[in-house]
Amino acid sequence: MAAEHNSQSIDSAFYQTANTFFPNQAGTALTYDDLTLATLYSEVLPSNAALDTELAGGLNLHIPLISADMDTVTESQMAISMALNGGLGLIHYNMPEKQQLKEVSRVKNHIHGLIQEPITVSPNQTVGEVLERIDTKRYSFSTFPVVDENHKLAGLLSGNIIKARYNSKRVSEALVPRNHVQTIKESDLGSDPITIADHFFTENPGINKLLVVDDEDRLRGLFTLSDIERITSEKQALFRPARDNQFRLICGAAVSTPRKSDGTLDRNQIDVHVGNLINRGVDVVAISTAHGHTKSVGEAVHLIRESYPDIPIIAGNVTTAEGVEFLADQGANIIKIGQGPGSICTTRLVAGVGIPQMTALYVASQAAKNKGVSVLADGGITKSGDIVKALTLANGVVCGGLLAGCPEAPGKVMEISGKLYKQYRGMGSLEAMKSGSAARYGHTREDSNRKVAAEGIEALKEVSDNLDQTLAQLIGGIQAGMGYLGAPTLPNLREKALYIRVSPAGQREAAPHDVVEMKPSQ
Ligand code: XMP
Repeated sequence: MAAEHNSQSIDSAFYQTANTFFPNQAGTALTYDDLTLATLYSEVLPSNAALDTELAGGLNLHIPLISADMDTVTESQMAISMALNGGLGLIHYNMPEKQQLKEVSRVKNHIHGLIQEPITVSPNQTVGEVLERIDTKRYSFSTFPVVDENHKLAGLLSGNIIKARYNSKRVSEALVPRNHVQTIKESDLGSDPITIADHFFTENPGINKLLVVDDEDRLRGLFTLSDIERITSEKQALFRPARDNQFRLICGAAVSTPRKSDGTLDRNQIDVHVGNLINRGVDVVAISTAHGHTKSVGEAVHLIRESYPDIPIIAGNVTTAEGVEFLADQGANIIKIGQGPGSICTTRLVAGVGIPQMTALYVASQAAKNKGVSVLADGGITKSGDIVKALTLANGVVCGGLLAGCPEAPGKVMEISGKLYKQYRGMGSLEAMKSGSAARYGHTREDSNRKVAAEGIEALKEVSDNLDQTLAQLIGGIQAGMGYLGAPTLPNLREKALYIRVSPAGQREAAPHDVVEMKPSQ
C-alpha cells in the first residue's frame, strides 16, 4: 500500500529513464515532438548551466552546436561566428579544394575585430581611379592602406584626400608616408588583440586606424576604432570562443569520398585532401554521407585514421547501433546520427528509409557508449526544445535550416513580395550534387547531370537575426531546459532525463493555441 502512495514510484511509472522508455517503445520510431521531458527538482539557475561538451580527445566546444557542412550554411564567415560563440562550423566541400583550404585558413587566422584582408590601393594609382573604385564597389569607407607590389606597406591614403579636385594626383604623392603611419607587429598582438587595439586607440586620440604588419612590414590587417568600440561595448559573449591550443578558433571541414573511374575509392585524393586540411590547422574532418554504414565510407574513415592518427573524425550518417560500431571500428571518433530528418531532405520519401531522430539517437547512443565515441544529432532541429531533447542522448547537434537565414550563411539575400530570403538547399538536391556533393549520395558528379533521384530540395529561408542573436535564443532555451531538469552540465542532463510520450492533442497543447499571436514589434 505504502508503495502506491510513494510519489517516487508514481513518477517513475509515468516518467521513464531512456533505458526503460525507449525499449518500451520498441517497434515505434519517435522524434522530438513525440515525447517530452519531465521536470525535476532543481537548484540550477538556467544562466549558470554549463554547455561544454567534449566531442573527442582535444576537441572541446563551449556550446554543443555545430553548423552543417552544407553549401548554403557553412563557409568561413559562419565557421568564425560559430567558433566565436563557442561552437563549431564544418566548412562544406562544394567548392574547389584550394578554395576550401583558403576558407579554413580564414577561420584559423581570424582575429576578432581585425580586418584580415583590408582593401588596399597601390602607389601608382591616381586618386581619380580610387574614387571610381569606391563608386563602383560602393565602399562605405574611403581610407585605404597603400601597399607596393610585394604587399609591403607604403603608407595610408586618408579619406580627406579622396576628392575630385585631387583626381590627377598619384596615390604616392597624396599618401601619409609609411613612417607617419601607426602600426603594430602581428607578433605583438598576443592572446587578446582587442584589448591591445582598444588601449592603442585610447593612447592615441584622433587616430582611428591601426595597421598590422609582419616582420617584413607586409600588411597583415587593420583595426578600426569603430569596430573596436562596437565590440567592447557589446555585452560580453555568454560563452568563450572555442579555440585550439594555439589560441586559434577551431574549425572543421568536410571531405568527400570520391571514386575513380573503375568505381573504387580514390584513396590518394582523400589522403592528400585531408593532409592539406591538417596543414592549414583544421581541427576535425567530417565525412558526411547519406549512408555511412557502407564499404566506401568505412574505407575512407579507415584510410584517414591510418594516415593521420590524431585528427578527430566525424563520420556518418547512420541510425543503427551496428552503423555506429562499424564507423567507430574504422576509427571515427564522432558519429553523426540522422537519415532523412533534415528540413530540406527527401530521403525518406524517395528511398523509404530513415528513422525519426529520438529513437535513432537512443539506439545509436547505446553503441556509442560501448565504443567510447560521441554522437551528434544531425538534422530536423526546428527549436531549442528539440535541442534539449537531443542532448539527453547526444553530445552535440548539427543545425542547417536553423542557421541558413543568418547573414553569416553564404548566399545572397533576395526580396520576394517585400520579404527577404536566402537560399537553402539540400546537399542531395540536383543543383548541389552538380556542384560537388554527388558522392555524399552515392553518385558521381556526372551522374547528377543525368537522371538520378534527388534526395533533397532547393528552398528559401526567411532572413533571420545574425548568428549571435540566433544562438543566444537557442542557448537560452537549452539552459532553460537544463534548469527545469536540475542539470548543471550536459553529462548530468543525459543522466537525469526522464521521458514520456505525447499524444497528438498534447502536441497541439505544447504550442500557442486559441490565441491570435502578435509579432513582437521590431
Ligand atoms: P536541418 O533540418 O537542420 O538539416 O535543415 C540539416 C541536415 O540535413 C542533412 N542533409 C540532407 N539530407 N537530403 C537529405 O536527405 C539532402 O539533400 C540533405 N542535405 C543535407 C544533413 O545531415 C544536414 O546536416
